[in-house]
Amino acid sequence: MVLFERDNEIYRDRDALREDYQPEELVGRDEELQTYQAALQPVINGEQPNNIFLYGKTGVGKTAATRYLLAHLREDAAQYDDIDLTVIFLNCDGLTSSYQIATRLVNDLRSEANQISTTGYPLASVYEMLWEDLDTCGGTVLVVLDEIDHVNDDSILYQLPRARANDDLQDAKIGLIGISNDFSFRDDLSPKVKSSLCEQEIHFPAYNAENLRAILEQRGEVAFHDDVLSDEVIPLCAAYGAKDAGDARQSIDLLMKAGDLARDEETDTVTEEHVRRGRRALERGRIKEGINGLTEHGHLVLYALLTLDLEGEAPVRSRDVRPRYTRFAELANRDPLVPRRMRDHLSELAMLGIVSVTERNEGRRGGTYREYALDMDVELILSAMVETVELVGVHDSISPYVDSDDDDAAPTLQDFSNV
Ligand SMILES: Nc1ncnc2c1ncn2[C@@H]1O[C@H](COP(=O)(O)OP(=O)(O)OP(=O)(O)O)[C@@H](O)[C@H]1O
Ligand SMILES: [Mg+2]
Repeated sequence: MVLFERDNEIYRDRDALREDYQPEELVGRDEELQTYQAALQPVINGEQPNNIFLYGKTGVGKTAATRYLLAHLREDAAQYDDIDLTVIFLNCDGLTSSYQIATRLVNDLRSEANQISTTGYPLASVYEMLWEDLDTCGGTVLVVLDEIDHVNDDSILYQLPRARANDDLQDAKIGLIGISNDFSFRDDLSPKVKSSLCEQEIHFPAYNAENLRAILEQRGEVAFHDDVLSDEVIPLCAAYGAKDAGDARQSIDLLMKAGDLARDEETDTVTEEHVRRGRRALERGRIKEGINGLTEHGHLVLYALLTLDLEGEAPVRSRDVRPRYTRFAELANRDPLVPRRMRDHLSELAMLGIVSVTERNEGRRGGTYREYALDMDVELILSAMVETVELVGVHDSISPYVDSDDDDAAPTLQDFSNV
């Protein structure tokens, strides 16, 4: 009996939709690429390279553009005998201190036999080793620190870009490229670090629908067989992507999800309907993840707001969420948080995009206050809140959504209605 059979009717190369795929050309980023390229030009001229700081929201092509340009730079530098270029690319996710980065760089520059231990040295001696190894390597060394915001102390962000000016290096010309999607990281850099690290700042803005369309078309051509995608699929993925965050990664994921749904159905065309369902499925995953990451009180606050919303009370002020939240907390045998902390949870829900916030003015007295409402599908939220509902009980307002076939389901608590 055959259990596994190839099902390649939809995809020519599904891997082209994966995160680790490096597209041959980048589309819709001409201006930024030009600036970036100009900032790297000194390397080819044999001059001291610029330190570059690249920033922009998630999924806007920062890593892809860096890999793309550095691959070309390496290739083109090879034509010049007097240029000896070394590129070290580090993702700082998991490398949280200057110490870890510095030891990692030392080990990247050394042979297998000469690796150093990643603990036990004073930071100053690790820097000494680093300068020595960089000088031994010589030529031009570009160090890329991607997701640089994971590094939680300043030291290396100052030391590396300044190494040559500080006479730590004689032979090597070093350039640092820092990449981040965390705007507060950039704003919070000390002036000293900022002036050395951000010699050249390049901002990558979010993509609009037209950009995303070009990106998806390029990727779709590699990934799908001809005529598999119906006409509206890519424009729809692009439109959703532009509306959400202008994030290419998210849009490519959506295209892949739509393709997967079509494949599971064993049809040979991907349709608008697959995109819509794919979007729901991805959103469900994101919201679930977001809700799972909340604390118990976060869940109780969300449950309280959800029931008020269903009763038509939203948008609602924090102080009007409070009585229900308190009651739910008591039913769950938890001590309710003070109002301020409860409000923090509402803000967190807003940040996750589960709740919307409206700022209002308090008439003539001039103060402002905030009102909260649900910004997500009720069923979607409830599907991630099973435990909380079990803990507190089924509020009347959600009973239409709760599967009542199950006799073991939590009892409907009638006395909720007067909360
Ligand atoms: N201009 C583009 N042309 C083609 N593909 C692109 C383009 N921009 C982004 N992509 C693709 O979108 C995905 C996300 O891009 P990338 O990883 O570069 O984002 P990022 O800005 O580094 O995001 P993060 O801040 O989350 O690291 C990748 O698969 C990348 O290949
Ligand atoms: Mg990146």
